[in-house]
Parts: sequence; structure tokens; C-alpha cells
Amino acid sequence: MSDVFNVQDGTEKSVLSVALVGPHDQRREAVAAAIAGRSGVAVEEFSSYPDEGEALALEDRSDVIVVDADSDPDRALSLAQSICSRGRASVMAYSGQADVKVAIRFMRIGVREFFTLPLEGPEIADALARASVRQPSQRQASHAPSKVCVFLGTKGGCGVTALAANFAVALAQESERPTLLMDFGLPLGDAAINLGMITEFSVANALKDAPRLDGNFLRTLLATHSSTLSVLAAPSDFRLDQAPGVEAINKLLAVARQNFEFIVADLGSRLDLLSSAFFDESSIVYLVTQVGISELRNANRMISQFFARRNDNLQIVLNRYKPATLLFDDKHIEKALTRPAQWKIPDDYSSARRTQNTANAMAMADAPISQAIRQMARTACGLPAEKEEKKKLFGFFR
Ligand SMILES: Nc1ncnc2c1ncn2[C@@H]1O[C@H](COP(=O)(O)OP(=O)(O)O)[C@@H](O)[C@H]1O
Ligand SMILES: [Mg+2]
Repeated sequence: MSDVFNVQDGTEKSVLSVALVGPHDQRREAVAAAIAGRSGVAVEEFSSYPDEGEALALEDRSDVIVVDADSDPDRALSLAQSICSRGRASVMAYSGQADVKVAIRFMRIGVREFFTLPLEGPEIADALARASVRQPSQRQASHAPSKVCVFLGTKGGCGVTALAANFAVALAQESERPTLLMDFGLPLGDAAINLGMITEFSVANALKDAPRLDGNFLRTLLATHSSTLSVLAAPSDFRLDQAPGVEAINKLLAVARQNFEFIVADLGSRLDLLSSAFFDESSIVYLVTQVGISELRNANRMISQFFARRNDNLQIVLNRYKPATLLFDDKHIEKALTRPAQWKIPDDYSSARRTQNTANAMAMADAPISQAIRQMARTACGLPAEKEEKKKLFGFFR
């Protein structure tokens, strides 16, 4: 058996190199036995999950990494997600249980094949044959250019956190691509709490030693939501004396962009970040507001002063929209906003309340508010609007 800690460089690449990673000997050996004797395949077995640095070394020498999904499901999923996000090796997974939900979670983050033990017939041999066809271009491929979605509010309490967190969950699910939610609602951000997550590390850890920040370090700070969304939470304590500089914030965003295809940022009402890379032309700014005198007045000022030159890269979101009880009609709202709002999110107190602080995010429910958030996410990742939902939404807003 090989030792992940002593990985050598210069592996011969004329054969398909397969790494089997599984603490459970019997399951790992069953997979190894199914591959044994195949020509053109070199198998190495590892009896523990690698840490981040070891995983990078493993990717350097392996074309395919096959992970045991059962021994430590969260660790296996986050390992598979890291490897998939870098795109240097194909990832497959195996499990002793025929649980479709587990398989879907792995497939959604980019795992190519999922096997249920006992293996039947040539299924793993066929999967390796497919993997070898994809080589070597697969090894060089990385993810598509990343897209940054920034949520900014016109007033505290507008719903920035609820929308950013649920949009991020929906985006991870709909795009099935590596997606990161970053909470910059400092010093009291609550995006992770909104998703029922307890987090150990935060944005503050990433910014503390920003010059040394890289993808490996960033990954150690992330928590993973059941939707596969990665989350970098806000710090849990007040440290107003340590406001991070814009260079540190830009470095964090640059590292995130190298490692994730979609980045969603909850910026609360942080207008002080306007000069940061979060507001580059390539980012989409979701300006969250409500139908109220001060919210619309603030929206008007912000759009005129800061975002007048933005076109589709400014998306106005009217939250808690209640067509029946409007003080203002759509014409007045449009005038205040200087343009039509792209998104109207219904007021849905019971869904917001039911799903708040639980892992069952609002975006995952079946309510008008969830459908509206999913439509936003589908549009952001270039998917067509779902026809049925569209009909329902139009019905709702009519
Ligand atoms: N569309 C909505 N319908 C009902 N409640 C909502 C809606 N959007 C947000 N909320 C609720 O309003 C409260 C404030 O939202 P939050 O996202 O924390 O605001 P912000 O981050 O802008 O301060 C939360 O309890 C949230 O669940
Ligand atoms: Mg907030």
C-alpha cells in the first residue's frame, strides 16, 4: 500500500493511474479486486482520507481518484468536491449502501461515477475505459471562468442575507458546479446561521494573513452545506479595530475565483466595499430593496450615484413584494429605481420562519418564494427558466 505522505514526482503517465482512497479495508479491497489485472491501469490503495496538501499531491500523480463515500461521508464529499473543483483528476466514489440521495450528492459536485457494492460485471472497468478516453485533456482542464454574484441592501433588514444564502444554495444545486458563499456582513453576518450551519472558521481567518492565503488554506476554512454549497462564514465576535483592507479582500476574492465557479457574497449594506473587486464590471450586483419610502429613496441614490453605468450586471430585487397591498404602483416604483426591477420576491413570512436557521434552506422548499429564488439562480448560471414555475410565478404576480 502507498503512503499519501510520501508521494513521488514523475509518475509514468502512459498508463491510467488510479488511486483508491478508503479507510474501510474490505470495501477498498473489493474495488481493487475488480480492477486487478486490467492492462493499462496502475492502482494504488490509500487507507486514509488525505488532508488538503496530500490531496493535491495525489492529484499530481493520479488520473482517477476513487473515494469511499461511507467511512466519513462529510469528509469524503468535501475531498471529492475539492478534487472536482480543480479538475485535474476524475473522481469516482463507491458505497456499500444503495442510497440514491448519497449518489446524487456526489454526482452534483462533479463526481463522474458512483458505484454501489458489490460491484456487478464490468461496471468499474467500463468507467475506467471512459476515464481513459477523457485523458489527458481532462487533466489540464480547469473550471470555467468564475462568476461573482454580489448581494447588497438598500437598508438593514431588506432580506440581503436570506436572499444571498438561499440564492447560493439554489445556484449550487441548479448549476451542479462548485459554489462558494462568503459572508461579508461584518461584524455580525449571519448567512451560515440562516442555513443552520455551525462554522469553526470565518472570513476573518482568511483575511488575517491574506498575503499567504491560497486555495489549500481557504478550503480548510470552509464548511459544506448539504446542498454541496461551500460557506465562508462571518466572524462571530466584534473586532471593529481590525477592519480588513481592500487588498486583503481582493486577494481573498482572487483565491476564491481560482477555486470556485460561482461565488456569492452577502455584503449587507457595505458601501465601503464599492472600491473592491466585488464590484468589478464582471460581477453581477443584486441590489436588494423593498417597497417603502426610505428603501426606494436609498435605492434611487445608490443606483444614480454608483450603478448608473451598469446594465444587466445590476439586477434589482424587490423583496417582500405584495402586489395587493402596494402603497406605490409599478410605475412609481420603476421611476424611483430609474429602471424596472428584474426580480420580485414574494413576502412569505411562514416559509422564511419555517426554514430559518435550519439546514433545509428556503430555496429547497416548494413555495412561491423558493421558486422565485430558484429562477434567479437558474438565470445566473445560464439555465432556461422552468416553464411550469414561470407560469405559477406569473399567476402569483398578476
Ligand atoms: N421575502 C421575505 N418574506 C418573508 N420574510 C423575509 C423575506 N425576506 C427576508 N425575510 C426575513 O426578514 C428578516 C430579515 O432578513 P435578513 O435577510 O436578515 O435581512 P438583512 O440581511 O438585509 O439585514 C429575516 O428574519 C428573514 O427571514
Ligand atoms: Mg444580513
